[in-house]
Amino acid sequence: MAPRITVIGTGYLGATHAAAMAELGFEVLGLDVDPGKIEMLGRGRVPMYEPGLEELLQKHVAGLEGSTGRLRFTTSWEEVGEFGDVHFVCVNTPQKHGEYACDMSYVDAAVTSLAAVLHRPALVVGKSTVPVGSAARLARLLAELAPAGDDVELAWNPEFLREGFAVQDTLHPDRIVVGVAGEHGEKLLREVYAGPIGEGTPFVVADYPTAELVKTAANSFLATKISFINAMAEVCEAADGDVVKLAEAIGHDDRIGKKFLRAGVGFGGGCLPKDIRAFMARAGELGADQALTFLREVDSINMRRRAHMVELAREAVGGSFLGQRVAVLGATFKPDSDDVRDSPALNVAGQIHLQGGQVTVYDPKGMDNARRLFPTLAYAPSALEACRGARVVLHLTEWGEFRELDPAAVAAVVADRHLIDGRNALDAAAWRDAGWTFRAMGRPRA
Ligand code: UDX
Repeated sequence: MAPRITVIGTGYLGATHAAAMAELGFEVLGLDVDPGKIEMLGRGRVPMYEPGLEELLQKHVAGLEGSTGRLRFTTSWEEVGEFGDVHFVCVNTPQKHGEYACDMSYVDAAVTSLAAVLHRPALVVGKSTVPVGSAARLARLLAELAPAGDDVELAWNPEFLREGFAVQDTLHPDRIVVGVAGEHGEKLLREVYAGPIGEGTPFVVADYPTAELVKTAANSFLATKISFINAMAEVCEAADGDVVKLAEAIGHDDRIGKKFLRAGVGFGGGCLPKDIRAFMARAGELGADQALTFLREVDSINMRRRAHMVELAREAVGGSFLGQRVAVLGATFKPDSDDVRDSPALNVAGQIHLQGGQVTVYDPKGMDNARRLFPTLAYAPSALEACRGARVVLHLTEWGEFRELDPAAVAAVVADRHLIDGRNALDAAAWRDAGWTFRAMGRPRA
């Protein structure tokens, strides 16, 4: 019989994983400690914006008309213990307040609660991003606390999904990595992932520490690639070069590749910034901090982008923000998401506001989250409204909607035709033709 699956923690990762497992044909039970979230998911509604996720949930959530009924949600640990053969732990691991290290309290609490209800053989599979060494520690915790004792096994199976592509990345991952302590875990996970494996997805088997490190190494590499091109943008600005052309040219070398070479205001979000910091902190604990000192530079190049954008904006409004209207297009950390965690766009908007600017923000999906985080900024219902009366327009998240803006229509509502493209995504020639002073990060002035 096919293994029955539970998913613990139904945030971004968990909700997507649960729906994807149901799509792959399994019976799935999702658990969260937040009854509000469970109630919503039980109605087939998603607490965040993620393309395709709500449709997938509605296809499978039990009780909804026309659904397969394979997916249910609960807040009961006992139910999870009784139901599952494979338990995926998908809770979040945020950065600790006031330090770089990762806060493991949610993972520890989830594994402790789960262990107590494991009365029969089970495979516990960690998916959260954790400091290396956590899996070994959690395996000991399970052995100590689970009534089924040795019949409970742990595996580590890091997740590489990108927001905005979560459903696609989960159903058709580019690789599956599993850290296991024995053959049983590997066999069971091959069964769970038979669909993607059948499509040709590579299945990489490793030990616990390697599997944990794969995730942090991958995110560190991506962050490094972005900061590399942003460092080149700094040099291009100093030398009057064009970083977009430069990225295109080096990207033709397939050892380098074109992806993740978009210069601009840099990376944000719930993963890259906190993951590289947690990685540095963990390397320090292991006595290997020198190996990762370059990540400090990666982080600082990235943070410098935000400050540089503020400076470009200040210059555009004549040297001081006091009393000046500034339009900010974009609030989320990337397009096709409503996530504003560590968003460069909001960070820039906040800095300008604190320096006396009158900032108005518009974002297609991130307005509610942005308002919660920065209630003192002004928000407009459309891009055009945000730009009304502005002395400078900042393009900080590359939503498709902003590429469609008509430069002449925007020109008709602003006070000054100054545009700064913080994502190198707009058509410079079209804006300049409509009379705009167009600046972009790492590109010649005009
Ligand atoms: C990332 C990893 O890509 C994913 O594999 C991991 O599982 C979680 O972290 P995500 O946070 O969804 O995913 O966003 P990603 O698409 O990686 O973008 C991160 C940030 O980098 C965004 O703010 C984006 O705007 C920025 N970015 C990305 C650039 O500034 N330039 C680029 O070329 C690419």
